[in-house]
Amino acid sequence: MSKVASLAEVVAEREVTAVNLYDLAKQRDRLGGRIEARIDDVLKHGQFILGPEVAELEEELAKFAGARHAIGVSSGRDGLTMAMMALGVGPGDAVFVPGFTFSASAASVAPLGAEPVFVDVDPDTFNMDPAALEEAIAAVERDGRLTPKAVMPVDLYGLPADYAAISGISARHGMRVLADAAQSFGGMLGNSQVGTLAPITATSFYPTKPLGAYGDGGAIFTEDDDLAEAVMMIRTHGRQGSGDHALRIGMTARLDTIQAAVLLVKLQSFSEELVRRRQVAEAYTELLSGLVETPKVSDGAKSAWALYTVKVPDRDAVRERLAAAGVGTGLFYAVPLHHHPAFERWVPEGLSLPVSERLAGEVLSLPIHGDLEDAEIAFVVDKLKDALA
Ligand SMILES: Cc1ncc(COP(=O)(O)O)c(C=O)c1O
Repeated sequence: MSKVASLAEVVAEREVTAVNLYDLAKQRDRLGGRIEARIDDVLKHGQFILGPEVAELEEELAKFAGARHAIGVSSGRDGLTMAMMALGVGPGDAVFVPGFTFSASAASVAPLGAEPVFVDVDPDTFNMDPAALEEAIAAVERDGRLTPKAVMPVDLYGLPADYAAISGISARHGMRVLADAAQSFGGMLGNSQVGTLAPITATSFYPTKPLGAYGDGGAIFTEDDDLAEAVMMIRTHGRQGSGDHALRIGMTARLDTIQAAVLLVKLQSFSEELVRRRQVAEAYTELLSGLVETPKVSDGAKSAWALYTVKVPDRDAVRERLAAAGVGTGLFYAVPLHHHPAFERWVPEGLSLPVSERLAGEVLSLPIHGDLEDAEIAFVVDKLKDALA
């Protein structure tokens, strides 16, 4: 959508009666035939585990990101755990995780016997606040129980985190950075693609992600040959190639061949879908200015726009009104990580993350995807105006 001159005009252009938060049907109409053909190839050759489509996709993903290695894995969350295994994260280690993200970011730390340490986020970018990271590291060092080992910035809603600041802090404390890019594949900082912004990066191909499979999947990106070799062993039971020995503790964490076949087709139109997501985001920002607080994009960054998230003080009531008017929305996330029962044991007494706590009550994600039409954007904006009135 270039400019929406008249809302009423665009809404009238096509009768829109509802807009879901996600809608994969249009993408399927565009790509379904080609996807089915590639799935059929897999059914015929029968190499369901690490078939040729996985290597082909890895090559294409590495090319897209400009990364030395791309390794297909079973999910984003497994990818994070595997990246930490490759980095040697273990019992007694602290991994710094934002307090405002999906629970999988912190859950990925637990199987290693390490502990997530929650860090507050920046209210404008929703991403880890470097100043809060410094404070959290200082607290861990004062306490002396854990060794600061790794930092996990999360590129929330598709916007890359402040890797320059976080990498500097991390290096000063002898830590490694691993990027949770589950939502941000396709995003950029300057001329660098997500996948090259940290020594090791994990993304997700969960169906509703910008590049989504038809099931679970993910990928790890790294420039480091040793980390890449470690990850490839970890995804196949700790074995090297077809070797008989488990050389390290591994997992069953490969990207499925059928999912690789689906992703190979989707990757072909991914750049165009990213352009459309950016157009949708720009249109929302223009049309909603002055009505609600719209998301900001940091200087030099390009978001993959996995989600378009506004801040609404009376969020729950507005969300209910939107649902009644036919607009699907999402709450990402209604609960900050330090308030999840599963993570209670890692929350120091009295921990307060004021920004994460406030955002959890205000954020509201609107429909955005690569096939959203102008009339649908106008419908969402129209209904949001009514809901706020
Ligand atoms: C920020 C974040 N981290 C991790 C994950 C986990 O990815 P997956 O669902 O592929 O395991 C997700 C996905 O839902 C996510 O949004």
